[in-house]
Amino acid sequence: DETKAGVKGLMDSGLLKIPNIFVRPSEELAQESLLTYKNTTTKIQVPVIDLSDIQINADKRKQIVEQVRIASETWGFFQVVNHGIPLTVLDGMIDGVRKFNDQDVVEKKKYYSRDIKRRVRFNSSYDLFTSTTASWKDTLTISFSGPAHPEELPPSCRELAMEYSKHVEILGNSMLGLLSEALGLKTDHLENMECSEGHRLHCNYYPACPEPQLAIGITNHSDAGFLTILLQNQIVTGLQVLHQGQWLDIQPIPGALVINIGDLLQLVSNGKFRSNEHRATTSHIGPRISVACFFSGPLNGDMNKIYGPIEELISEENPRVYRNVLLSEYVAKFLSTSMDKYRALDYYK
Ligand code: SIN
Ligand code: FE2
Repeated sequence: DETKAGVKGLMDSGLLKIPNIFVRPSEELAQESLLTYKNTTTKIQVPVIDLSDIQINADKRKQIVEQVRIASETWGFFQVVNHGIPLTVLDGMIDGVRKFNDQDVVEKKKYYSRDIKRRVRFNSSYDLFTSTTASWKDTLTISFSGPAHPEELPPSCRELAMEYSKHVEILGNSMLGLLSEALGLKTDHLENMECSEGHRLHCNYYPACPEPQLAIGITNHSDAGFLTILLQNQIVTGLQVLHQGQWLDIQPIPGALVINIGDLLQLVSNGKFRSNEHRATTSHIGPRISVACFFSGPLNGDMNKIYGPIEELISEENPRVYRNVLLSEYVAKFLSTSMDKYRALDYYK
């Protein structure tokens, strides 16, 4: 029952040392300084793409599609600004997550569950990646697919999450349009493949950590679905992406959103787009709040849907890299694969 108070509950009890389950293995900690990208002179960062005028200016759209193509092929990550979601909606979503987590444990416990079929669930370290170290975070997950059931959402963040969901769905489809064009396909190609049929919000709350150098917010992983749109609050850095084998911070930019390519988009693009590994660190400063919106195909609908490399992208010069995969099978594989050693995608080569 203790655990149901979450990591925040632990912190609120005045903890000075973190419990052992949160301490990363010593071999891993010993490697850490070697694996940290020393961003000194060049100040390298993932591309920042300005989306203004994409619907009204064809020339500008072409340029943006080109930027999206390069970013998706090389980094698998970029940030977008002028994406059309009002700042009040972004701030509102962060605020909703804070309000939910600030409530009394009794209120939060109502949503405590590890049943992935539940549309709304709250838990700590959900063991998604079968890792050995527990994550220093509490996560509220909300699925938006099929008919809306507002009454299932926690009242503390209901309106704010529904408002954000509405906007992020539009942006998701608009991004899939740019990504389709970046693959040389018709604008609606990825949307027609039901890549954005439903989406899921993972609202992550990373409390301040008394020993951040020993813990991890979320361990090294790639995202399973097609596309992720990530909102982070502007105070604390945490998100890091793998760059030349080392961890590089993604600096929060006020009003920006992080976009990243997931495994299934790497697969259907026949390896052209990259689903890159990333993680989140912890800090003495907190909480850090992030909201990841996953577009992972019709997860609550047709799990028998088959995904494989898009025909138009296969040719003699570009032979097929991946096999076809049943959506349900891929999800099961992803959930049972330890990210530290194997990647689910590699089983489908
Ligand atoms: C995630 O990768 O799912 C979350 C990353 C973050 O909190 O920035
Ligand atoms: Fe992720």
